[in-house]
Amino acid sequence: MTEQEKNHALCDEEWQKRVTTVSSTPRIVTIETTSVCNIKCVMCPHGLDDKNAIYEHFPEHLVPKLKEVIRNASIVQLHGLGEPMMNPAFWDMLKMTHKNQHVAINTNGILLNKKNVGRMLATWLGEINFSLDAATHKTYQKIRGADFNLVIDNLRYLIAERKRLKRDRPYIFMNMTLMRENIEEAVKFVELCHELGADQVHFWQMNQIDEEKPWQVERDGWSFDYHQQLLSKHPKLSNEMIRKAEERAKELGVHLALDWAKKVFFDEDDHPEPEQKKVAEGEKPEIFSPKQCNAPWNWMLIKTDGYVVPCCFGTGTLGNINSLNPLEIWNGRVTRELRGYLLNDRIHPTCSSGVCKFISGQKSEEVENRWSAHNISKNMQGMVWETFVVLKTMAKKLVGENFWQIAKPQYFKLRSKVLRFINKP
Ligand SMILES: C[S@@+](CC[C@H](N)C(=O)[O-])C[C@H]1O[C@@H](n2cnc3c(N)ncnc32)[C@H](O)[C@@H]1O
Ligand code: SF4
Repeated sequence: MTEQEKNHALCDEEWQKRVTTVSSTPRIVTIETTSVCNIKCVMCPHGLDDKNAIYEHFPEHLVPKLKEVIRNASIVQLHGLGEPMMNPAFWDMLKMTHKNQHVAINTNGILLNKKNVGRMLATWLGEINFSLDAATHKTYQKIRGADFNLVIDNLRYLIAERKRLKRDRPYIFMNMTLMRENIEEAVKFVELCHELGADQVHFWQMNQIDEEKPWQVERDGWSFDYHQQLLSKHPKLSNEMIRKAEERAKELGVHLALDWAKKVFFDEDDHPEPEQKKVAEGEKPEIFSPKQCNAPWNWMLIKTDGYVVPCCFGTGTLGNINSLNPLEIWNGRVTRELRGYLLNDRIHPTCSSGVCKFISGQKSEEVENRWSAHNISKNMQGMVWETFVVLKTMAKKLVGENFWQIAKPQYFKLRSKVLRFINKP
């Protein structure tokens, strides 16, 4: 058993035992190597070109402090909001990792020239997520505003060098962040992966953002509107394209992975919230609570400013590695307090942003009330859902398909209102 495997097992054991002071070290370590980028993709905060935003590299003088926390981690992720290779210190961080770890990066590939491919293949990098988001120069230009041919040449060279050196690492993903603008290139993207000989295609949905927040980017006469580009707004087209891409991948023997964290296929009739849909299918709705979160027993994320956070959702911090070592923070007062809160199913101020599935915007008292409310409401939700299904079938028969198309939005609005009302804790 390697030191990493032993540490992994201890992490699990300490989580099972629900202890607040741990002897294991984080199993997953994510270092935000930089938030600086060399391009401005339309769907990324960099695309908004906010002059007040602060983008910076992880400081070189803090890199030696990472050694103790990286040593026994099973997974090391060296990425964040920016382009990792923009930070010269990225290479020192990469060299700290070793062969018993799974080391991963995300890159736009622009700086992956011949010299950097050589440097990369001399390390234990296990996974490279090559973000392309397009299968043609035209679409790449719109979304990423950079030189498609250059990154494709870089990718081709990386694959050829890996082969020449008879290496099976790094595993190479080709990433596509899906949106209205590129969804029709999904099949072509799979074909491109086959032609280049990359290992896998990964399709991701764009993150949901606040409906009220405007996000508009003007680029070469094209206007990108974040909300309009979300594929939930184009369910039929999106489903069709992803199914075609799946079929093509099967034909060509290309591995295709679909976003595990978000909904990939949409209901073409309407967009019921996932919980309601599950009730309709007779399954137990997935309602999470803080006590199910095991992040502070497993995961440490260190940001460019040295602040340590337990995961990528929280707004509070556990300490700063400018003044303490990462492992002091791992068993520091705030981290222990956070573990205690979670074990008692309470929301710690560190997690107050509440966007993760364990909290999802609820206040502490609401979380406490939820379990009891859930048991009562789930049966009612199921009955109401069934009633609406019957109503829909009857309405379609009675008024005919054309009239139903007109009445449909009102019907779904009413159904959402009723279900939301019942679902209130
Ligand atoms: C933020 S980038 C950072 C690493 C590197 N610069 C890159 O492009 O891969 C990591 C990944 O996030 C994706 N991404 C950017 N904006 C996104 C959004 N609004 N929703 C979901 N994924 C997004 C990118 O396409 C990329 O694959
Ligand atoms: S390359 Fe990555 S970090 Fe840079 S703008 Fe694009 S998605 Fe954002």
